[in-house]
Amino acid sequence: MHTTTIGLWTLTAAVAAAKTCYNVTVAVPVTARNGVFDNIDTPQTNFDATSFVLSATRQGRNLTETALSGYATVSGHYNISTQYCMPNNRDSAYTLQILTHGMGFDKSYWDLPYNNYNYSYVDYVLSGDITHSPLAQLTRMVRNGEMPNIKTPAKVVHVGHSFGSAQTVALSAMYPELSDALVLTGYSTSADYMPMFLSGANFHQARLNCKNSDYTAGYLNSADLGSNIYLFLSPPHFDTGLLRYAEDNKKPMTIGELLTITGLPAQSNFTGPVYVIDGANDVPFCGGDCLHMGGNSASIPAAAKVVFPSASAFSAYVHPSTGHAINLHYNATGAYKQINDFLGAHGLLSKSHHHDHVRHHH
Ligand SMILES: *[C@@H]1O[C@H](CO)[C@@H](O)[C@H](O)[C@H]1NC(C)=O
Ligand SMILES: *[C@@H]1O[C@H](CO)[C@@H](O)[C@H](O)[C@H]1NC(C)=O
Ligand SMILES: *[C@@H]1O[C@H](CO)[C@@H](O)[C@H](O)[C@H]1NC(C)=O
Ligand SMILES: *[C@@H]1O[C@H](CO)[C@@H](O)[C@H](O)[C@H]1NC(C)=O
Ligand SMILES: *[C@@H]1O[C@H](CO)[C@@H](O)[C@H](O)[C@H]1NC(C)=O
Ligand SMILES: *[C@@H]1O[C@H](CO)[C@@H](O)[C@H](O)[C@H]1NC(C)=O
Repeated sequence: MHTTTIGLWTLTAAVAAAKTCYNVTVAVPVTARNGVFDNIDTPQTNFDATSFVLSATRQGRNLTETALSGYATVSGHYNISTQYCMPNNRDSAYTLQILTHGMGFDKSYWDLPYNNYNYSYVDYVLSGDITHSPLAQLTRMVRNGEMPNIKTPAKVVHVGHSFGSAQTVALSAMYPELSDALVLTGYSTSADYMPMFLSGANFHQARLNCKNSDYTAGYLNSADLGSNIYLFLSPPHFDTGLLRYAEDNKKPMTIGELLTITGLPAQSNFTGPVYVIDGANDVPFCGGDCLHMGGNSASIPAAAKVVFPSASAFSAYVHPSTGHAINLHYNATGAYKQINDFLGAHGLLSKSHHHDHVRHHH
């Protein structure tokens, strides 16, 4: 017990000495053209949730298309929950990484506190900003120096995971000038394996599945530890304590997200460097094997190159012994190194690698 306590305190002190983070809720004005899904009833019960998945996964059908009744322009101010972190010894001209999480998680995906932040991407980079969409407006505010307490960065790199990668691709297609580089984790252009994701989730209504939930009907959670493993992890390459942490902190998905995750622009005219990295055993985007392309391409993530015909550099990497949620696996820092080596090779490293000191202080 004593060892644990002292270890925690020491490492907390080390982390605190290296970075400062604070939560910022940002009111972002947004106008967006949204799909309207009036030809589908919002699932009210767990029974309805299963019926929804059956409709969404039936072969030869496209529920997104049949549920869609039209489009509507939605405007408003949305409060976005973000966390801003900076190294305490940051240079004056710095690169900001804007990190977006995927479905089933919240902003803590990129800064997991489990095992004294041993899995934290933010600790690896020592600079980051974590947020939901609407990315474009938020990025403009950061670049224009309109964010309270956040120093205007020299460069901005967008790093997405899964649904966050999808949003990053969409951002780069609409506003290629807002980003200096893209990193897409847990991402491919294939929608072929989405039925595995939907089926494996065994969705329950979040308000019935969560411990303290005031979610309305239509917010769905993966059912339990088993479905969490199936969707996000590759046994036995993770700490079961971290699985328990992820299960206890899982976040619901909406049927709107589930119906639109594959509706991405086919092309982005982004002209900067693009890096794609997937866990080799990613289920939702590779069907459990990112290297198995049937001879058409080096890997399933490598096939994403066609989306970025104007990218100044494109590289795809398949990271071994890892499922969809890269950050939850033992070798998460191996992936962080790949990402930041790529950024470093393009002059976009946020920081020199002081993290090695931090990590070994305990
Ligand atoms: C930020 O908010 C999270 C909850 O979303 C909380 O757990 C964390 O302690 C907050 N961090 C700071 C530095 O206030
Ligand atoms: C399903 O329909 C939507 C909306 O028309 C479309 O964006 C999407 O590409 C379709 N999905 C497949 C797999 O064909
Ligand atoms: C956003 O936050 C502000 C201040 O915390 C609050 O007054 C406002 O009602 C919130 N807006 C929405 C749309 O939740
Ligand atoms: C932290 O991660 C490293 C690998 O990156 C591992 O060797 C070490 O045992 C981990 N420490 C803890 C406390 O989990
Ligand atoms: C990308 O550029 C091509 C050629 O200029 C253009 O036809 C296409 O519409 C552009 N795509 C986007 C998403 O702006
Ligand atoms: C950890 O990840 C790196 C980068 O992908 C890889 O080179 C290395 O072989 C991995 N280590 C293990 C033990 O899988």
